[in-house]
Amino acid sequence: MAENPFRIHGLVTGEFFTDRTAELTRIRDALRRPASKLLVYGYRRMGKSSALALAADQVNRQRGHAFVADLSTASTVADVSNRILQGAAAALGKRWKNVAADLAARLQATVSLTHDRASGLLLPTVSLQLRRADLEDQRATLGSVLDAVNDLARDRGATIGLVLDEFQDIARFGGEDAEWHLRGIIQRHDHVSYVLAGSKPHLIRRMIEPGRAFYDMLDVLYFGPIDPTYFASWIEQRMRGAGVAADGVGARIIEIAGARTRDITQVARTCFDRAVASGKAEPRDADLAFADGVAERDDAFADFWQQLTPHQQNVLRALAVAGEGLTSAETSARFGLASSSAVSQALAALVDAGRLVREERGGARYEFDSPFLRGWVVSRALLDIGIALPVTYRVPAAAVVGTAAALPRQATEASV
Ligand SMILES: Nc1ncnc2c1ncn2[C@@H]1O[C@H](COP(=O)(O)OP(=O)(O)O)[C@@H](O)[C@H]1O
Ligand SMILES: [Mg+2]
Repeated sequence: MAENPFRIHGLVTGEFFTDRTAELTRIRDALRRPASKLLVYGYRRMGKSSALALAADQVNRQRGHAFVADLSTASTVADVSNRILQGAAAALGKRWKNVAADLAARLQATVSLTHDRASGLLLPTVSLQLRRADLEDQRATLGSVLDAVNDLARDRGATIGLVLDEFQDIARFGGEDAEWHLRGIIQRHDHVSYVLAGSKPHLIRRMIEPGRAFYDMLDVLYFGPIDPTYFASWIEQRMRGAGVAADGVGARIIEIAGARTRDITQVARTCFDRAVASGKAEPRDADLAFADGVAERDDAFADFWQQLTPHQQNVLRALAVAGEGLTSAETSARFGLASSSAVSQALAALVDAGRLVREERGGARYEFDSPFLRGWVVSRALLDIGIALPVTYRVPAAAVVGTAAALPRQATEASV
């Protein structure tokens, strides 16, 4: 069987990575320019981490020095320090001798070297006790770690580009104080250039408002969707290259899967698997592939649904069918919604849980974070109130813009 030309796990590289030329250029430039500070933000599954890793890799191959530290899994500030130390040792250690030992020497008692069997490298790690120490002590160590990276760059006459991926998660450890602390450190470094990247636009936009820690400090790169026309033709080209005829399926995939790179790639991947036997992918295969994506998540979505209050469930139903205009009397009555403040509360809770995203486009607008969850609500949870729509149903654009949404009365298309 032909190898699937789409990858959906982890970071994509090589032939599996496409486009992002402008973004890569800006990130590379920021990583190389001493003391520059760039914010890269956009929704998750857009392809930020893949682009950041590739940009750092390109900088290193062009005799520069850059690395990525992923903060998303850190449970303490001490863990953040470890991510930075390990990233530095792994990436810079390939070009410079004794990076780990050098960092450990600069950090003295706080850091020791452990041998990583998998990579064969010595990795600097802060002492385990630090994870249980006072926040102040943990922050002081993070400051020393970043100072050590800056000193290392200075002493070697170089600039080190450091990407802090999912940096907004630092606020989990002390809220705004943590942001000010990070700003203070970053500001004093002339030999490190920082790229702060994050996936929570509603939090990040707040972090750069006047009066907040990162106000007026960062250049900003908004990481949006890949151009849909380009992406559609790339998808078809990849399919053809792997022996599957494709004409029109690329555009249909994007129409259904929405704007996020990973969602699109996932539908394309399933679509390819479905089409490989016949050697031909048609637009209808995109619909079937999307339905597969919804079905695969059935257990997880059903569990999630069970944990919602009945009112939150109704809000999701209304959003799936009516889009905006949740406060109109008609929508309210149709979906059993409570007062508009209760609707706002439900929406805010679902945004916090990462299930909806909130955008400011002339007032707050809400959308499902995942097109698959939207498809699940449409295909599984609307029958409760007597509405049958195909799993791929999306609110027509006009309904989203207007205040009173046009409501489909009956199922007009066949369910897939
Ligand atoms: N430039 C790209 N070309 C093709 N697929 C991509 C690209 N960027 C991202 N993807 C797809 O999206 C998935 C998630 O990408 P990732 O970089 O982890 O996004 P983010 O960091 O924004 O959440 C990848 O595993 C891949 O399937
Ligand atoms: Mg990421």
